[in-house]
Amino acid sequence: MQEAAWQVSLVLMLLITFGVIYVAINSHKREEEYGPLVKRAYGFRTKLFWAVALVFLPAMVFNLMDLPYDSPRAAGTGPAQVINVNAHMWYWEMDRDQVEAGQPVEIRVTSADVNHGFGIYDPNLRLIAQAQAMPGYTNVIRHTFKNEGTYRVLCMEYCGVAHHNMMTEIKVGKS
Ligand code: CUA
Repeated sequence: MQEAAWQVSLVLMLLITFGVIYVAINSHKREEEYGPLVKRAYGFRTKLFWAVALVFLPAMVFNLMDLPYDSPRAAGTGPAQVINVNAHMWYWEMDRDQVEAGQPVEIRVTSADVNHGFGIYDPNLRLIAQAQAMPGYTNVIRHTFKNEGTYRVLCMEYCGVAHHNMMTEIKVGKS
């Protein structure tokens, strides 16, 4: 997989290099000297630009709005339910694993040994919030769980041989 990705990147890099060389060689030409092919290419480039601007940019903004780092919007109001998290190789120590839906939760994340990544996934395994678990620091996640269910916590930072086993759960119940 990684090998294939590397080969594809290599081909793309070569294409870009040829493109840059082509442009550099032809950079002295005036617009009137362009052949019909080049003119068509420029027309296509303009269309491509507008396609990207009109279709992909709004789509990107739409996707970015929903990312977990948008914490003020996700935070809500009211007294927070606090979960203290201490990461260890290779388990999560949490003083609480049950919270209520619709109420803000404050998760204070730190580590007892090395850097870990505290990632919360909803029941469909979609990432909804995350923070770095670092020794000597406490990083805070403020999140209001909208829906009940069992949320999974996975380690998001490679931290040694049993990194993949570093999982736990947060149960979100009715408020
Ligand atoms: Cu802890 Cu990976």
